[in-house]
Amino acid sequence: MTTFPESFLWGTATAAYQVEGAWNEDGRGPSIWDTFSHTPGLVANGDTGDLACDHYHRLESDLDLLAGLGVGAYRFSISWPRVQPGGAGGLNEPGAAFYDRLIDGLLTRGIAPVATLYHWDLPQELEDAGGWPARDTALRFAEYARLMGERYGDRVHTWITLNEPWCSAYLGYGSGVHAPARTDPAAALAAVHHLNLGHGLAVQALRSTAAGDADMSVTLNLHHVRGVSEADAAAVRKADALANRAFLGPMLEGAYPRDLIEATSSVTDWSFVRDGDEAAACQPLDVLGVNYYNPTLVRHWDGSGAKETADGHQDGAASPWIACEDVEFVRQPGPYTEMGWNIDETGLTELLLRLHRDHPGLPLMITENGAAFPDPVGQDGLVHDADRIDYLRRHLSAVAEAIAGGADVRGYFVWSLMDNFEWAHGYAKRFGIVRVDRETMERTWKDSAHWYRDVVATGKLPE
Ligand code: FCB
Repeated sequence: MTTFPESFLWGTATAAYQVEGAWNEDGRGPSIWDTFSHTPGLVANGDTGDLACDHYHRLESDLDLLAGLGVGAYRFSISWPRVQPGGAGGLNEPGAAFYDRLIDGLLTRGIAPVATLYHWDLPQELEDAGGWPARDTALRFAEYARLMGERYGDRVHTWITLNEPWCSAYLGYGSGVHAPARTDPAAALAAVHHLNLGHGLAVQALRSTAAGDADMSVTLNLHHVRGVSEADAAAVRKADALANRAFLGPMLEGAYPRDLIEATSSVTDWSFVRDGDEAAACQPLDVLGVNYYNPTLVRHWDGSGAKETADGHQDGAASPWIACEDVEFVRQPGPYTEMGWNIDETGLTELLLRLHRDHPGLPLMITENGAAFPDPVGQDGLVHDADRIDYLRRHLSAVAEAIAGGADVRGYFVWSLMDNFEWAHGYAKRFGIVRVDRETMERTWKDSAHWYRDVVATGKLPE
């Protein structure tokens, strides 16, 4: 029987734009995701986050849902345009009051609030002024972080500055499949840097407030990159530099890796990195957040034949993999989830052990892991998602294996508490352990929610 440490933090995760709705209420300003989702053709089925899960109006019952699951923590994100509509100036009081109710409601129920400051919903005004490729956005982000620390710092357990800056930079400004839908490789690398800088400045800003005693973190979707054969070592190294060390380098070691700068020299000279920026990005962290869904498989590409692009982007379209013309992203063997992502939990164990080896002494937390499946509603009106239970069981076993191997993993958050707006895929992809009926907004526990409640209650994986 697999048993987790007594102190292990069990949770579920969501993000503001994916669940809240109320996009134009109580003074909330527009974000780049409002603009993106309201642009015809960018989101499947024309879906938007206008209503999402109506979480803004169903806060109390959603908090009761969390209490029913028995989780010790809840990872949510604060909508920047809700609390500081244009990304500058003072707080929008009605918006800020929503997160008071959320945080206090969690604490009343004995659930630790884990707050992400930026889960992709940049105020549109900041994008209009240049977005993440512009240095000023990092400075604005730090100011926003300070306001959040002043307001909620006495009550939040863990602060996560950014969620998956890989996606913000490379999908937002590189391949353009995420907001703000730009396809400019040099801008994407500038965004990488200003996200790193913004992270460091935000940690500093938070520490100057009542949040100073809270845990500080950032969530990265690190890619566990494997090569098809030994001959693909250079391809592995390049993908690893772009995906992982572009963030781990500055954030944890205070420097960009040399090979990253060299590999991207035809795209940018990195002159947007000013003296002192790398040191500013490198702030002591209490825990590193890791999001994991599947591993990445690469092969050296010599330019002949059709190139595989198994990472999801269309052949011929702009790639999120900047300067990786000689790297082929190879489709991996199944089984697959509804996203087309292969299920392979061994990558999670290997990734956690690598982090433990490369960054000893830095505790880790799985801030997202989960899967979309078809989730048909049965005759009994329920969702019997044995496939999701199997996915979660495999990945929790993989975490336990990493812990047994020495990795200091402090907690695990299922993505997601409930079915929600899955970005460019709209509502078609269901990741929740709780089903949300799109017509009635009714929440129904799937089998996986019952299963997870038992895991949380016992701290053990059932046989
Ligand atoms: C991650 C995002 C999260 C969710 C999952 C499926 O990349 O952080 O919001 O969409 O993927």
